[in-house]
Amino acid sequence: MGMKSSFLLILFIVPAVLADLRVGFYKPTCPDAESIIFQAVQKRFNTDKSVTAALLRMHFHDCFVRGCDASILIDSTTQNQAEKDAGPNQTVREYELIDEIKKALEAKCPSKVSCADIITVATRDAVVLAGGPNYTVPTGRRDGLVSRAGDVNLPGPQVDVSQAFQIFRAKGLTLEEMVILLGAHTVGVAHCSFFSERLQNDPSMDANLAANLTNVCANPNTDPTVLLDQGTGFAVDNEFYKQLLLKRGIMHIDQELAIDSSTSGFVSRFARDGNGFKQRFGNAMVKMGSVGVLVGKDGEVRKNCRVFNPKKKPTVPRPPKKRKVSPPSKKASKKKQKKPKGKGKKKKNPRAL
Ligand code: HEM
Ligand SMILES: *[C@@H]1O[C@H](CO)[C@@H](O)[C@H](O)[C@H]1NC(C)=O
Ligand SMILES: *[C@@H]1O[C@H](CO)[C@@H](O)[C@H](O)[C@H]1NC(C)=O
Ligand SMILES: *[C@@H]1O[C@H](CO)[C@@H](O)[C@H](O)[C@H]1NC(C)=O
Repeated sequence: MGMKSSFLLILFIVPAVLADLRVGFYKPTCPDAESIIFQAVQKRFNTDKSVTAALLRMHFHDCFVRGCDASILIDSTTQNQAEKDAGPNQTVREYELIDEIKKALEAKCPSKVSCADIITVATRDAVVLAGGPNYTVPTGRRDGLVSRAGDVNLPGPQVDVSQAFQIFRAKGLTLEEMVILLGAHTVGVAHCSFFSERLQNDPSMDANLAANLTNVCANPNTDPTVLLDQGTGFAVDNEFYKQLLLKRGIMHIDQELAIDSSTSGFVSRFARDGNGFKQRFGNAMVKMGSVGVLVGKDGEVRKNCRVFNPKKKPTVPRPPKKRKVSPPSKKASKKKQKKPKGKGKKKKNPRAL
């Protein structure tokens, strides 16, 4: 493909929302960035195929809280409880892999490649390795300067389709894209505690599956996991939707996609059309990867993905009189009123996602 057609592709295919991200952003500043990331992900995948699920979920949680800005990677400090520690552990994994990639990139081209782009590209690579689409990822994201547990307001597995869609719509995603993105549950696992309420007399679950899961989840002292896609649990494919048609979805929200009349048509279509699903999945991932991104001079390129760079804006709000950089939002000022613990919205689903 020549320069001219690449140019046309960029002109006509990349939607306006991505205008500030671009394919090949690191070509001039860190030409090997994407291959360094791919090699690390491949190495990890070769020893643990569940890395695909881990990265997909990390990317989703990052993008849905303050945009895709790597805020999920920040470690908590004594002054600040960070996103990753919201609720009792969100079971997001593979932070160490991101650290390893960052280290390799810093050695090659210091302070060039953002942690937010590492998550995004690594997720795509892990999807390809698991048999999913090789979608092209625009880059140029910058890392955020804020990470607060209190900002995390992700849906829990017991939500229904319309409740889930309220959250996706607020991120600029369509109902169809929500059904496609939930297709990420074609890989990975859920802990029994996220679906055990379905194991007794839930007619929307196949009785044999319910019996099997009841056995698996029987030990009250542990919280085992089961594959979200009971067909092909490590492949990025459309088997998840086929399982839903067989009433073999694991979590309530998954099975609801096949039941709710607003989404059941999408489920049937993707169950029939594996290639169509893959292509749409790639497109939807690119769109999710553009939610709330920081570009240009906003944010920073962290040197350590777990820590804000020194001498930048403090992460803890300054005392009121000094706060002129960003005027306090409604939310921020509410925060200062020392509201009683446990009253915030996000506490509704302490084990959300
Ligand atoms: C309404 C939306 C969603 C809800 C309620 C939801 C909920 C959940 C829950 C409860 C788990 C199990 C976590 C555990 O047991 O540790 C899970 C796992 C997972 N979710 Fe979602 N999710 C949603 C959307 C998404 C999206 C949009 C993606 C990615 C694009 C995604 C990717 C994953 C993956 C890959 C796993 C498996 C993680 C692993 O094996 O480590 N989810 N989700
Ligand atoms: C909490 O998350 C960390 C990864 O950040 C993981 O190492 C740890 O095992 C998790 N703890 C629980 C109880 O899931
Ligand atoms: C994905 O596509 C890119 C660009 O076309 C290509 O360079 C890369 O090798 C592909 N990756 C895999 C794993 O096939
Ligand atoms: C659940 O079903 C799988 C096969 O689908 C089987 O291998 C496994 O032994 C069953 N587990 C229990 C506890 O019934």
